[in-house]
Amino acid sequence: MTGSICGTGSYIPHYTMDNYAIADLVETSDEWIQERTGVIRRHIVKEETTVSMAAEAGRRALENAGVSAEELDLILVATISSNVILPCTACEVQRSLGAVNATCFDLGGAACTGFVLAYNTAEAYLASGVYKTVLIIGSESLSSITNWKDRGTCILFGDGAGAAVLKAEEGRRYLPVTHSEGGKGAALTCRSRNDSNGITKKNQAGDIKEEEYFIQMDGQAVFKFAVKKVPEVIQEVLELNRLEKEDIDLYILHQANKRIVEAVAKRLGEPIEKFPMNLQEYGNTSSASIPILLDELNQKGTIKPGQKLLLAGFGAGLTWAASILKPFLRKQGDGGT
Ligand code: COA
Repeated sequence: MTGSICGTGSYIPHYTMDNYAIADLVETSDEWIQERTGVIRRHIVKEETTVSMAAEAGRRALENAGVSAEELDLILVATISSNVILPCTACEVQRSLGAVNATCFDLGGAACTGFVLAYNTAEAYLASGVYKTVLIIGSESLSSITNWKDRGTCILFGDGAGAAVLKAEEGRRYLPVTHSEGGKGAALTCRSRNDSNGITKKNQAGDIKEEEYFIQMDGQAVFKFAVKKVPEVIQEVLELNRLEKEDIDLYILHQANKRIVEAVAKRLGEPIEKFPMNLQEYGNTSSASIPILLDELNQKGTIKPGQKLLLAGFGAGLTWAASILKPFLRKQGDGGT
């Protein structure tokens, strides 16, 4: 028994901000951003929220899968930038979708590895027979935790949501590889603007002051981490499942930086055509980047029946993970595959 993706969906905010708009805020240029990252524009929430985007992406994934909200046993949302803490984002999605039979919880803090870990969690529940139908979502409003005065980070991020429906199926189970290295966590943090040590301050009356949090990053350290660890974890997951890199049809990597994706392809000795990218349009949307890309490839019909995909995420923690999957997907309006 395994868990297999049978439908995808996504939601992208309408408002876009190109590199010229970023250059109005900080000292940078369209040329520099494109050359160093590959990003051309990003979409930013206006009226949308992390919850509303998650719910809409989830609704579209259910429609694509031909699954009703009532059939869901579990809703799992990966996010680091929700507009709600309690109830959790997944419970808010449940309310919006009317998924009355689902158990709901969030997978917070795993950042850009969040969707791969959500996939692994869902797949393990499905393979063990605990649940039969699961909705996993990555949804982020990173613009709310971006320091728009820091040119080292504000050029990179964007907002959006992606989702996938998984069902329990007979078939081969591929095991994932996951890693965390908390000792190197300082390279990428989201801490209070008022206290870079992350300790919440109190005012004179002893009340906790309202704090603003924003992403801080040692860009070069994160870059080096990614180009070393991502090829390693890909090799590990291939070996664990006794597969060769030639067995993989598409590598769906977290969309952080074009140069990272290119470096991974080069280190693996695999053609860049097997590494689809959409970061030029969305920037880095953290836990949402992999499911948004998956949905785009699904809607375009790029993913063919029987193909093997390899997902790889990496980010704050530091965390990184890779999973192999064989989805059975339907394009919008298809009768199914
Ligand atoms: N515009 C123009 N110049 C910039 C700039 C910007 N937005 N940001 C930095 N610079 C300058 C620096 O000040 C430096 O100038 P100097 O040589 O005069 O000191 C120069 O460009 C090079 O800076 P550096 O930090 O070495 O740039 P880089 O090539 O490493 O690119 C990142 C910076 C952030 C794009 C890159 O490190 C990166 O993508 N890292 C990974 C980030 C990531 O993916 N994080 C999320 C992971 S989930």
